[in-house]
Amino acid sequence: MAPDYPMPAERITPELLRARKGGVPIVALTAYSKAEAQRLDPLVDLILVGDSVAMIVYGMDTTVGLTLETMIAHGRAVVRGAKRACVVVDLPAGSYERSAEQAYASAARVVAETGAAAVKLEGGVAVAPAIRRLVGAGIPVLGHVGLLPQSVTEAGAFRVQGRDDLSAAHVLDDARAVAEAGAFAMVIEGTVEPLARCITETVPIPTIGIGASPACDGQILVTHDLLGLFADFTPKFVKRYAELGEAAEQAVRRFADDVRARRFPAPEHCFGVKPPKD
Ligand code: KIV
Repeated sequence: MAPDYPMPAERITPELLRARKGGVPIVALTAYSKAEAQRLDPLVDLILVGDSVAMIVYGMDTTVGLTLETMIAHGRAVVRGAKRACVVVDLPAGSYERSAEQAYASAARVVAETGAAAVKLEGGVAVAPAIRRLVGAGIPVLGHVGLLPQSVTEAGAFRVQGRDDLSAAHVLDDARAVAEAGAFAMVIEGTVEPLARCITETVPIPTIGIGASPACDGQILVTHDLLGLFADFTPKFVKRYAELGEAAEQAVRRFADDVRARRFPAPEHCFGVKPPKD
């Protein structure tokens, strides 16, 4: 089915996304494999190879502990399946915070070994020198402010940001620092609406919200969440557009029943077996 919005045919670059500030909202989703990327590619503007892969694919409690090699392997797979959308790969926790040079070494590997258009990293004022270094070296950066999953050590500690003036001021400072350092856009995660609105009105680059209200210039979700494929936990900000987990369970149950009843494989699924005549 063709999307309602006329999708640009050309490859969507970070620069094209930057120019979407205040325009048609940016649509972004996560993918970790080629097959997922092929499905999303004609429909979305940005595909994020998110470090949420840690929880969704590897069953880890948080995103902390993922290696650069793992992100590169998933990034490479996603790039193979994406012809149009802008592919961005998350830099995992521990691969960029120590210094701008560490961030450059990690980001340079990611773009060279995956072919992705950009990297994403979490934080604001503290990582601004790293963002500046990457952008100066020609590596586009998607920022990430507000709730920062890489700084959360236990899954239960995910807290909405900006409920009080002090925390709101910190996040706004972070957003300004990310924009000033040269990021082409930024994710705002888990943030109250007035703060997301204030950031979006303040910074000159697009904001892409996740649990950050429609005030943002675009929206991103974890694909497994919106498809109902991740059963462990559904955050309040997720709308489930399908229940593919249940559909998959029913399909597997029918397969198991067919095998046990010797209904599968049927003659048409076999080599060297003639189908019965009517
Ligand atoms: O890792 C991730 O999936 C993210 C979200 C913003 C979608 O960073």
